[in-house]
Amino acid sequence: MAVLTVIIGVVLGLCMLSTALLKWNEIKYRKKGLPPGTMGWPLFGETTDFLKQGPTFMKNQRARYGSVFKSHILGCPTVVSMDPELNRCILMSESKGILPGYPQSMLEILGKSNIAAVHGPAHKTMRGALLSLVSPTIIKQQILPTIDQFMRSHLSYWANQIIDIQEKTKEMALLSSLKQVFGNESCSLSKELMPEFFKLVLGTLSLPIDLPNTNYHCGLQARKNIVRMLKGLIEERRNSKETHEDMLSSLMNGGENRYQLSDEEIIDQIITILYSGYETVSTTSMMAVKYLHDHPRVLEELRKEHMGIRERKMAEDPLDWDDYKSMKFTRAVIFETSRLATIVNGVLRKTMKDMELNGECFVIPKGWRIYVYTRELNYDPCLYPDPHTFNPWRWLDRSLETQNYFFIFGGGTRQCPGKELGIAEISTFLHYFVTKYRWEEVGGDKLMKFPRVEAPNGLHIRVSDL
Ligand code: HEM
Repeated sequence: MAVLTVIIGVVLGLCMLSTALLKWNEIKYRKKGLPPGTMGWPLFGETTDFLKQGPTFMKNQRARYGSVFKSHILGCPTVVSMDPELNRCILMSESKGILPGYPQSMLEILGKSNIAAVHGPAHKTMRGALLSLVSPTIIKQQILPTIDQFMRSHLSYWANQIIDIQEKTKEMALLSSLKQVFGNESCSLSKELMPEFFKLVLGTLSLPIDLPNTNYHCGLQARKNIVRMLKGLIEERRNSKETHEDMLSSLMNGGENRYQLSDEEIIDQIITILYSGYETVSTTSMMAVKYLHDHPRVLEELRKEHMGIRERKMAEDPLDWDDYKSMKFTRAVIFETSRLATIVNGVLRKTMKDMELNGECFVIPKGWRIYVYTRELNYDPCLYPDPHTFNPWRWLDRSLETQNYFFIFGGGTRQCPGKELGIAEISTFLHYFVTKYRWEEVGGDKLMKFPRVEAPNGLHIRVSDL
């Protein structure tokens, strides 16, 4: 009896303590003008629910509080916006004081001049310098031939084996970027740089605990090693008379380039290019392979497009700009893959001062995060009828790509500058993949869709010659 009384007492005590803690956290963040919502536990907020339940957590909160609600996730008081019009408005409001809000660990590892860490004139310079590297003319004359040569050789010997397409597309995305940035020197550099780059990526996705052996610590070390390698390469190029036709040479060519960057800025720009195009391009390529496998009619249509291109050429002819521009169905497959797999759930912003949102409906305090959560829009039946079906044909109407709520590549002042580069890479990969090979899944591999799209144990396929 006494034991039972103690147990009941402890349970009641815990209940009261929990209620008090939850209440205390609500009161701590109670401020006039904030949207409705809950703040969860002190310190941890609602992070566990968010990570465990993912999109369901977001949908439940929206059902209870509407499209704009407050929460406390990933260590910060946050306003989540699932309102398309408001999202557009937030992405256009950088000059009013809504800046990128990526975690400090990410910014420390990517460098203080990295594009997400700078704003105002510094952002204009870094963005301008990047856009000048990936203009349509440069893609046509320089980048597309490089991608073609790389993909052709990278995809040469995949037949008659089981491959992990997740691993292959990751390797492909990184090696292809290295080739564009460092040209012929990428081969000698890649062996030393690749393992460091993988550590850097892991570090940006980890808690900022700088202790030996933590992913964060290893990420910081990897950054140091990459910076050392790049400094050495820049120095070597300066002391040599050799000329190069690659992104590094354009960035170093201060005299001709109207964006004159310091060596530190050049290095952070290069790390940004490698980082931004890595997971986006590799995961979209992997998921395209997955969806094509599951939808034979789509694969047939895509193959028809690429076989048509090959029939107009000699076997050894590279893809050119006109070929790329003619890949209408391929572009549609890439958009439909990005939409349905939701490679990007949304983007993060933070407020630099108290900000009014949605007219004067809400006031978001200084220092809060705003999660511009665009995932659900990808499944909006008004924009995409029968939204859970993989139907690339819907994108053949080009107006879908230019509609106001197309956020697959972000929006506003930070819209992805690498969009066409990424599409050109994935298109070229698909070209060589579907014209050379057929494949079937080995089966049994799991796919996770949240918080990142990934196959935890790889996605294995058996590849044969077509
Ligand atoms: C399928 C491929 C890609 C997707 C889905 C994608 C998606 C996005 C999204 C959603 C943003 C907006 C981030 C924000 O607003 O905070 C963004 C920004 C950015 N992307 Fe991409 N991206 C892709 C490929 C690339 C590639 C290949 C590059 C390489 C140059 C790149 C470089 C960048 C950079 C530098 C930014 C930041 C722009 C700024 O802050 O002004 N992306 N991307």
